[in-house]
Amino acid sequence: MNASMNLSQRADALEAKMAQELDYIVIKSRLHSLAEGDMGAPPSAAALMKANPNARVLMGDDPRLPAMPEKPTLVDFFKHRFGPSMHLLQSARHAVTAGLPEKMVLACLLHDIAVVGLVRGDHGYWGAQLVEPYVDEEVTWAIRAHQVLRFYADESVGYEYPKAYVALFGEDYQPDPYVEQDYQRMRNHKWYMSGRQITVHDIYSFDANLHVELEEFTDIIGRNFRQPADGLGFDNSPVAHMWRAIIRPAKYL
Ligand SMILES: [Fe+2]
Ligand SMILES: [Fe+2]
Repeated sequence: MNASMNLSQRADALEAKMAQELDYIVIKSRLHSLAEGDMGAPPSAAALMKANPNARVLMGDDPRLPAMPEKPTLVDFFKHRFGPSMHLLQSARHAVTAGLPEKMVLACLLHDIAVVGLVRGDHGYWGAQLVEPYVDEEVTWAIRAHQVLRFYADESVGYEYPKAYVALFGEDYQPDPYVEQDYQRMRNHKWYMSGRQITVHDIYSFDANLHVELEEFTDIIGRNFRQPADGLGFDNSPVAHMWRAIIRPAKYL
């Protein structure tokens, strides 16, 4: 590694070095290399093994990441995969303070679960799908809807287009046509206001000084998130593989 390397090159160099030392080879999913703007052929496991014949591709737990329990719970994912998640915790606290029903507090707690754990773009759709088997249908609907409704003001609840978005996307930004179409469908839905509530309690200006503990929501999670007995990822649900992808994001096959 040297000073002229950018962050991604450093990460790759570090990975190559670790592969030598730790006898395992990391081949990233296509999505990760595309996100780096890399359209090239993926590195060849066989070629890397020539350099280090003892190495193997990652098929088990990833030694670079915290160990996960055999039957992971939602809380385990928060603790061992999602990072600090203070935005989600602050949003959920905001919803509690506003007196929202428990399932909406849960919706606020989970609304950006895909941002902290899976995929950013279209994160409302990804996040809704991820939790769908385990929460009330209205929670899923609201999480999906916040993705769309956030781009549209609603004066009836004092929701303005976020100033942060002007800075982030530019003055001229227009949501994609599929977002506009979903908005038209969602604004007339019976659960519109539940999706809207997430945008109202979404903390757009992050408060760096407000620390919220996940434990504050243990009971709400317990009552409103149907934790599978076999653990998230191992319950044979239609989304189990998505949770397993978070547990082992660099699994070779
Ligand atoms: Fe979001
Ligand atoms: Fe958010």
